[in-house]
Amino acid sequence: MKFNNETRKVTIKAFRFNAETDYLPYIKQYELEVGKDDLVLDLMNRIKWEHDGSFSYRRSCRHGICGACGIKVNGKPVLACKQNAIELLDMFDNDITLEPQSKKRVIKDMIIDKKDFWEKHAKVKPYVVANVESHPTKETKQSIEAFDALLNSDLCIQCGNCHYACPSLEANPDFLGPAALNAAYRFSIDTRDNASEERLKLTSKPNIGVWDCVKCFECAQACPKDINPIEKITKLHNMQFEYGIAERNIATKHAEGFVRSMKKHGFLDEADIVVYSEGYLGMYKHLKTAYKMMKAGKIHFTDGLPFVDNVPKSKNLSEIQKLIKISQTNKL
Ligand code: SF4
Ligand code: SF4
Ligand code: FES
Repeated sequence: MKFNNETRKVTIKAFRFNAETDYLPYIKQYELEVGKDDLVLDLMNRIKWEHDGSFSYRRSCRHGICGACGIKVNGKPVLACKQNAIELLDMFDNDITLEPQSKKRVIKDMIIDKKDFWEKHAKVKPYVVANVESHPTKETKQSIEAFDALLNSDLCIQCGNCHYACPSLEANPDFLGPAALNAAYRFSIDTRDNASEERLKLTSKPNIGVWDCVKCFECAQACPKDINPIEKITKLHNMQFEYGIAERNIATKHAEGFVRSMKKHGFLDEADIVVYSEGYLGMYKHLKTAYKMMKAGKIHFTDGLPFVDNVPKSKNLSEIQKLIKISQTNKL
């Protein structure tokens, strides 16, 4: 219900749970007047200061710097001190629920246990590893190019929004996750750093490293600093090939198969990629999907068979081959 252009009276719902006293979480409603400049953090402050002093959440800087106030609103990760409330109310038809980043990690209301986040961060050595003079007489300068290569990865405020939005991490708690991988890139690309190889080895490991990212882009959507962690994960893929660290496994062979297919046809040969990366035996795991793709006309029943090459070639194949040649930085 709108009062006027400036203010509207709405019912805000909030997830409530105290791990020490509650058996189950519950949702509580609060009547609030929301102004056009109000941030989600202003609503949380008003709930605490005017309605219920026990409502708990983290915040510190109020300027999008400390990373403390990451929460979800209707499942959408937001930084409470950066997100305009009216914008969200418009998006969700005036029906919003404030939620913690991860319900299974809740300590109290919006406050979650971020232990897994910090542990994973620490694993990638998120600092420049270098032998520096204890009393240097001059700065260690970096060129503009070296700085640009960071690709804004250094802007991360460790809010955890991407980490707790990542479906791979939800399914596999061992996966390092987008924030830690972003940090791994940030310091591995730094010209002053001496631990790139160590980080690349760690992040190439199956089950925990970059190859377990399913490229869903949820992390890019979730990041309040527009860092785009998936871009850094892709850079780490390339660096692993460049350093000769990438292990030969299904995931890396899938990347190889992709380039092989584009070079050969200018199109993606879906069946060949599966055979190339998983072999003929592995292919049987995907028969159900293959059948659906056949029905949809995406593959032919002879695709993937040896000595049968019925995938059409792009009329721009030579252009595509040239583009691959000039843009490929690693040896697949
Ligand atoms: S793109 Fe990768 S790292 Fe990012 S959220 Fe999806 S699975 Fe996680
Ligand atoms: S990459 Fe973005 S979303 Fe992820 S922790 Fe850093 S600032 Fe937050
Ligand atoms: S309070 Fe510091 S980022 Fe929001």
